[in-house]
Amino acid sequence: MTENQPSVTPTVVRLPRYTKAEQDEILGDGDDPFGVAAAGLTWLPKEEHFGIRRGNRLVAHAGLLRLPVAIGEAETQVVGVGGVAVAPDLQGRGLARLVVTAALEHARTMGPQHALLFCRPALVPLYQRLGWHPLDKDVLVEQPEAHLVTMPLRTMVTPLRDNARWPSGEVRLLSLPM
Ligand SMILES: CC(C)(COP(=O)(O)OP(=O)(O)OC[C@H]1O[C@@H](n2cnc3c(N)ncnc32)[C@H](O)[C@@H]1OP(=O)(O)O)[C@@H](O)C(=O)NCCC(=O)NCCS
Repeated sequence: MTENQPSVTPTVVRLPRYTKAEQDEILGDGDDPFGVAAAGLTWLPKEEHFGIRRGNRLVAHAGLLRLPVAIGEAETQVVGVGGVAVAPDLQGRGLARLVVTAALEHARTMGPQHALLFCRPALVPLYQRLGWHPLDKDVLVEQPEAHLVTMPLRTMVTPLRDNARWPSGEVRLLSLPM
């Protein structure tokens, strides 16, 4: 881009698929691009995918899926957000903000009152900047064979409705994490 060309805001598009190949296109094929391998967890793939392309290259992604959760005695659903990724050479330019914001706009049409994500502690300030709140209590998640474990990553939530309030009570994801 030359100095006189206006910068163009990248467009977020719905992706028809998001496989390991698309993830590698964004983050490379390293062993642990999300830095969560040490947690040793089994994760669910996401069902709805949002991305940003630059030319022919996919450079950012956020995925969504609806998940059952128990909060105290009540069972409800959340929209799980996961696989948030931006190509290393384009990080720090607002692409995660753009793709997560677009994914959340869609999440508002999916029914649940809240979205929920898991992240490394180092990313809590970034997601707070995007309007998410950390849950200051342990969250249980399922692992294969219905084994329940305490999520070792931080859990963050954001409302999808104006009047939504996160209920009090123990939080158990009634599925694998996303
Ligand atoms: C985490 C990741 C997606 C962030 O992508 P990014 O494009 O660099 O993020 P953005 O530039 O959109 O930053 C989002 C906001 O967080 C802010 N931010 C970034 N780092 C921050 C920090 N350490 N503290 C506070 N705010 C921070 C940015 O300033 C921006 O806010 P603004 O739009 O108001 O200026 C990217 O680093 C990545 O792909 N990492 C590898 C994969 C990964 O770990 N994914 C996370 C899975 S939960």
